[in-house]
Amino acid sequence: MIDLRSDTVTKPTAEMRRAMAEAEVGDDVYGEDPTVNLLQERAAEIFGKEAALFCPTGSMGNQIAVKLHTKPGDEIIIEERGHILNWELGMPAVAAGVTIRAVRAADDNGMLTWAEIELAVHKNQPYYSCPTGLICLENTHNFGGGSVMSAAETSEICNHAHELNLPVHLDGARIFNSAVAQNETAANLTKDCDSVQFCLSKGLGAPVGSMLLGKLDFIEEARVWRKRFGGGMRQAGILAAAGLIALTESPKTLHIDHENAKRLAEGGANLKGVSIDAEKVQTNIVIFDVSNASLSSGEICAKLKEHEILASPFGNSIRMVTHYDVSREDIDETLNSLQKIIGN
Ligand SMILES: Cc1ncc(COP(=O)(O)O)c(C=O)c1O
Repeated sequence: MIDLRSDTVTKPTAEMRRAMAEAEVGDDVYGEDPTVNLLQERAAEIFGKEAALFCPTGSMGNQIAVKLHTKPGDEIIIEERGHILNWELGMPAVAAGVTIRAVRAADDNGMLTWAEIELAVHKNQPYYSCPTGLICLENTHNFGGGSVMSAAETSEICNHAHELNLPVHLDGARIFNSAVAQNETAANLTKDCDSVQFCLSKGLGAPVGSMLLGKLDFIEEARVWRKRFGGGMRQAGILAAAGLIALTESPKTLHIDHENAKRLAEGGANLKGVSIDAEKVQTNIVIFDVSNASLSSGEICAKLKEHEILASPFGNSIRMVTHYDVSREDIDETLNSLQKIIGN
């Protein structure tokens, strides 16, 4: 199978499995797991943040941040296609008691500008309007096609938000893809964000885990909420050992995934009824618009499956995500199959 549904399908490398088998462990709820502690220190160091917390999932990292930055009755601002809004099962309402103001970015890539955010902010308004408590950004933007936000754009939003005493949380599930695509450091891309969540378990290839980063007191409180959410893990060093390799080694090869995604987008752009601006594909996510194709997105994906290729249909689009288990040859095979299914 060529599995292009997501980069979450990556399996741990042989090096990760070895490190997991040999990991030194302790009870992390007591703060006694040396491998977890090391991973947290490394992550904080790489991002230039005061502290980090190992969480079981990206969703949990995001939702702890939403909970800590807001109070019930607040509103959080997020781009309309954002993960926190669409794919975390209403947790901002369930756990934090906040409502969401979704703002559609004018750019198809899903990146909000400060001008767009500012229009949606309720601050210093009459007491009977719902107060904004938090701004959430996403870099790369998954349903914006893996698009990237620059360090300057991120800092501009953060600085304006801070002038209004508003915190900014970054869902940086794929922040290393963004950093590699822009030849930037993760620290620069996130330096003015109050909190950051990034995933070890996507393109970086670890089997499980995400990191939440921020100031020391924020992370201390996040530890309490992680436990409350049921995310207090015990000998989690087994997982953190793979996470350490993901954090330090995997970013070095992400550029290959980006080259493969570009090749896929360029090839796909020539297919009948498929539209995509290959120029805009910057990282490892490719979203083809198939509204003008002879088959629906679901039908195309079903046929691809017969060719042993997996992709995800979303409305009139098909999303394909490259990762280290997908080779250049796999991309060519996928394009050949697509050509047979929908023609060119
Ligand atoms: C942008 C983004 N944020 C957060 C998450 C959540 O990560 P997890 O599946 O580990 O909860 C994902 C998962 O795909 C994602 O794409």
